[in-house]
Amino acid sequence: MEYRKDEIDKRIDAQDLTMTPPEREPQRQYYFMKKCQEIVRKKSEELGRPLYACTVNMGCQMNARDSEKLSGILTKVGYVLTQSEEDADFVIYNTCTVRDNANQRVYGRLGFLNSMKRHKPHLKIALCGCMMQEPSVIEKIKKSYRFVDLIFGTHNLFKFAELLATMFENREMIIDIWQGTDQIVEELPVNRKYPYKSGINIMYGCNNFCSYCIVPYVRGRERSREPREIIGEIERLAADGVVEIMLLGQNVNSYGKTLEQPVSFAQLLREAEKVDGIRRIRFMTSHPKDLSDELIEVMQNSTKICRHLHLPVQAGSDRILAAMNRRYTKAQYLALVEKIKTAMPDISLTTDLIVGFPGETPEDVEETIDVVKRVQYDNAFTFLYSKRTGTPAAAMDNQVPEETAKAGFNKLLRVVQDTAKERAARLQGCVMEALVEEVNEQDPALMTGRLSNNMLVHFPARQSQMGQFVKVSLDECHGFYYTGHIV
Ligand code: SAH
Ligand code: SF4
Ligand code: F3S
Repeated sequence: MEYRKDEIDKRIDAQDLTMTPPEREPQRQYYFMKKCQEIVRKKSEELGRPLYACTVNMGCQMNARDSEKLSGILTKVGYVLTQSEEDADFVIYNTCTVRDNANQRVYGRLGFLNSMKRHKPHLKIALCGCMMQEPSVIEKIKKSYRFVDLIFGTHNLFKFAELLATMFENREMIIDIWQGTDQIVEELPVNRKYPYKSGINIMYGCNNFCSYCIVPYVRGRERSREPREIIGEIERLAADGVVEIMLLGQNVNSYGKTLEQPVSFAQLLREAEKVDGIRRIRFMTSHPKDLSDELIEVMQNSTKICRHLHLPVQAGSDRILAAMNRRYTKAQYLALVEKIKTAMPDISLTTDLIVGFPGETPEDVEETIDVVKRVQYDNAFTFLYSKRTGTPAAAMDNQVPEETAKAGFNKLLRVVQDTAKERAARLQGCVMEALVEEVNEQDPALMTGRLSNNMLVHFPARQSQMGQFVKVSLDECHGFYYTGHIV
């Protein structure tokens, strides 16, 4: 919870449920939160125990942030959050549709929820997120997954409390999907996953229309939040103990261009840096075509902006880059990387790569491999091209056979892994600052920390050190992570 905790409670309490709901947002949602509080209280009295809710996030950082908003509303109306779907009275899947395997996973898990619901008829199931913005998905769910109680999309997530109230009052499936919105509703409760770090949406949607990508269709047009809203949120987070923030957008480098009073992303970063208490600033994602000299300068002169840049290249062949509508060439990308490395020799670069885009030949894949070798990425997410209905690439007639794509993928992956290992090895023996993030999953005597360059290190430490910065010696490099000790 970070939006003036008590303030929001006061506003919810002040709602009069004997009146019709207010028209204005977010007041309208406060009204429905109060209404849901009564419903949840009654239901849990009937059951003689609290009601449990489980939100499952299946997408990117932006979806993860949305899940924190859903959890914020759920706790506000009286649910107790649980990690386990089996224990839950209400399961919410926040879906992703960027690649088809994400969709398949949802259908698979829905089968499991259906069998759960047979044993637990009062179980409520909601689906939201990017996948729900696709009409074909809604048709399929309406036909084959009748047991789902509530479906909503990416544009009306702020209405969750209102939708909950509707769900409680109805037996049939509630579907509310908007095609788009120009609305940004602020000041709703948020339940942060980590006490010491937080994502912050600085913009929504995307206008780039890379030809393979479904995001612009399911997330709508680009909308930036006002800088004062963002800085206000960062200040509140800092006051609540947050030391690291991640500014989120599909293309943060075009932030602010469409505001009434345009602001650049670099200017926003300058303001964010001034917030006391914030020690680390990260951002995702940077589109290479919009990365400005001003941004490089701000990063270079900053002690808070982390030495990590995620700069998706997608492919190395100019022909494929053009067909992808990425709007840069291999040479332009490499020149940009050079400029960044000259300004910040210690920077870690990571990227996203796609193999198997329509028309891609093994020679084209060699171009991608060449980029990886030249740039020396610290890490790269390598994806097999996935055909997304409705995108221009899906209609291209030169789709690549799966075996060809897989062969290219495996070859590229080997190079990516070798490069990453080599890069990681160079820091072995160094002492670096780490933010202590969580208890190590395998060994509870160890804590996991994150370096400024986004790499992880595991070392003996106390749980009470979570959220603190420590100096760690990176004793041994294990490819993608280190083990070490506090010095
Ligand atoms: N806005 C971000 C990307 C968000 S999607 C950016 O442009 O950098 C994250 C990654 O998923 C993309 O960078 C891309 O590599 C991958 N991706 C998107 N659509 C895809 C598709 N149809 N098939 C395979 N990978 C895809
Ligand atoms: Fe998709 Fe391209 Fe937008 Fe990224 S910039 S979300 S890849 S359309
Ligand atoms: Fe997936 Fe939506 Fe993010 S499609 S990658 S969850 S914006």
